Amino acid sequence: MGGLSKKIFQIQTISAVDNQERLLLDSGNLLFKRQGVAAGPNQERLTAEAIMQIYRDIGYDAVGIGPLDMAGGLDFLQTGVAEGFPWISANILGENKQPLFPQWIKKEIQGVQVIITALSAPPPQLFPGVTVAPWESILPQLLPQLTTENTNPFIILLSSLSTEENRLIAEQYPAITLLLGAGQHQRNASPQLINNTLVTQTEKQGQYQGILEITLGKQRTWGQDREKQVADLQNRLGSLNWQLQRLEKKSANGTSDEKYASTIARLHKDQEKIKSKLTSLQDTIAQEQSPGALSDQYQCRFIALKKNMPNDVNTDKILQNLNRQVRQLHKLPHKLQTADSKEPFSPGHDLVGFRVCDSCHPTQTEFWQSTQHANAYTTLVEKEKNLDLECLPCHVTRDLFNTSDQHLAKESLLSFPSELQAVGCEICHGEGKKHSINPEQFKMVRLPGKDICLTCHTPEHDDNFDYETKIVPVSCPAG
Ligand code: HEC
Ligand code: HEC
Ligand code: HEC
Ligand code: HEC
Repeated sequence: MGGLSKKIFQIQTISAVDNQERLLLDSGNLLFKRQGVAAGPNQERLTAEAIMQIYRDIGYDAVGIGPLDMAGGLDFLQTGVAEGFPWISANILGENKQPLFPQWIKKEIQGVQVIITALSAPPPQLFPGVTVAPWESILPQLLPQLTTENTNPFIILLSSLSTEENRLIAEQYPAITLLLGAGQHQRNASPQLINNTLVTQTEKQGQYQGILEITLGKQRTWGQDREKQVADLQNRLGSLNWQLQRLEKKSANGTSDEKYASTIARLHKDQEKIKSKLTSLQDTIAQEQSPGALSDQYQCRFIALKKNMPNDVNTDKILQNLNRQVRQLHKLPHKLQTADSKEPFSPGHDLVGFRVCDSCHPTQTEFWQSTQHANAYTTLVEKEKNLDLECLPCHVTRDLFNTSDQHLAKESLLSFPSELQAVGCEICHGEGKKHSINPEQFKMVRLPGKDICLTCHTPEHDDNFDYETKIVPVSCPAG
């Protein structure tokens, strides 16, 4: 969420600067991070509501429904639609096979009908009475409808389907002019022209903002990237010239033999070929630029989110309000929210906290207290984020060596005892209950591996984590 405010600021500056008509689109998976979000008021739902408000306020034109968006139930999304959020999906169908969401949204840009539609990937668990129809059954009906009702439309498909499915769709349906993918495992990739469909994708929950500049032409066919083609040919010509010069100099120096002569002749031939390609390419470009022959042109940029961007004021307000709601929610007696969650945390789990270790390892404990890890929870308190389930997992002591820890209900983080409110000893050395009773028999992990650090020092929270360097200032001294 930290980056969201900067991202919104960036979108607004870009729109303000170039003053072009623009569409703000997202292919989905923006609300939740996992499937099966519990019912009732909880932090995940409050966060999802805040995200919807932010996207609505900045004026998103259409957002496809991804499987992760469905994690809070379909009512949640339908309420969003009722409140003006532009969710679309052509293939989420109800009992009578009727679409449950708007299947497309129509906009007019520079006199061109732009139609945005969306295909959702099915979530792992379906809802009773709901089907997420396969694209093979939806597109053959939908596309003819869109192309007959509108003249020469520019059709954009927002898709949370797999890269492979997107490719098949692009191959089979040239009527789709632009396909924006949003798979869960995709990375930024420059747009690819498949048949007549331009296929793009941006990284999930973006560190990047994808910007596609499109010059709308009269035809719904894509222009080629002529500048690049010209540059490529010119480069090849340049390197040929260089090789020729070198060889000609050598043969002039008297080293000439048959071999040089034939190579020089071949290079001259290649040179002629490329020159004539270049001329005909320039003719094509001239034709394409003549009036009446204009096709759609595009340019694609990915703009990295800058760390030093200011925050967007409105977004910050919404996020502050979210923080207040979350604190309020988590101040309630804890039983209320753990009703539907798994095991509540009990310190009887084999973590004992740093005070127990201190009794036998005062030197290391004193050292640890001088590191930032000892302050990790206090840092959250200072930011009023100590009741935030998004922050707690990396600012307290959990048992990272034991995978069952991952199944602990997140809410249990709220009731951690004070000796675990820090990135404590057991984060790096493993749970210490047995060792504290019988240190000779039960050994601790001496040197924590890189994997342990990376659980928290993720690129998102520490973009220059280097194990070799950062292990030094946290290594407890002997003695
Ligand atoms: C995935 C683990 C992770 C999560 C989740 C996380 N943090 Fe951190 N946080 C870190 C790590 C690692 C550092 C140390 C990074 C560094 O200093 O290089 C850190 C440092 C900080 C710092 C001190 C350094 C700074 O950037 O000013 C603050 C404040 C902070 N986190 C607040 C938060 C808040 C607020 C949240 C929840 C919105 C949060 N963190 C969620 C891992 C996490
Ligand atoms: C961020 C990780 C980290 C934390 C947190 C941490 N340690 Fe360590 N500790 C290390 C590393 C690294 C070493 C050095 C291991 C080596 O070089 O073999 C070490 C070494 C030790 C040793 C062995 C010293 C020796 O060589 O005889 C003890 C005992 C120890 N730590 C106890 C503690 C205690 C107690 C705490 C909490 C108060 C703590 N550690 C917190 C990383 C950590
Ligand atoms: C009752 C005293 C006692 C307590 C409590 C205790 N230790 Fe130890 N610890 C020892 C002794 C003794 C050794 C040396 C064992 C050996 O050399 O066989 C040791 C060794 C270690 C080592 C080196 C690796 C090893 O197992 O030999 C680490 C790391 C360590 N302790 C961490 C901790 C941490 C973290 C805690 C708290 C969770 C803790 N200890 C609590 C007595 C204790
Ligand atoms: C449970 C999450 C967690 C784990 C695991 C973790 N850290 Fe950290 N680390 C943090 C947080 C949070 C901070 C920032 C604390 C603050 O400033 O409040 C931090 C700060 C640091 C810092 C000081 C700030 C900086 O980036 O220079 C170093 C160094 C560091 N960690 C190294 C490590 C190393 C090495 C490991 C693995 C042995 C490790 N950490 C494991 C959460 C973690």
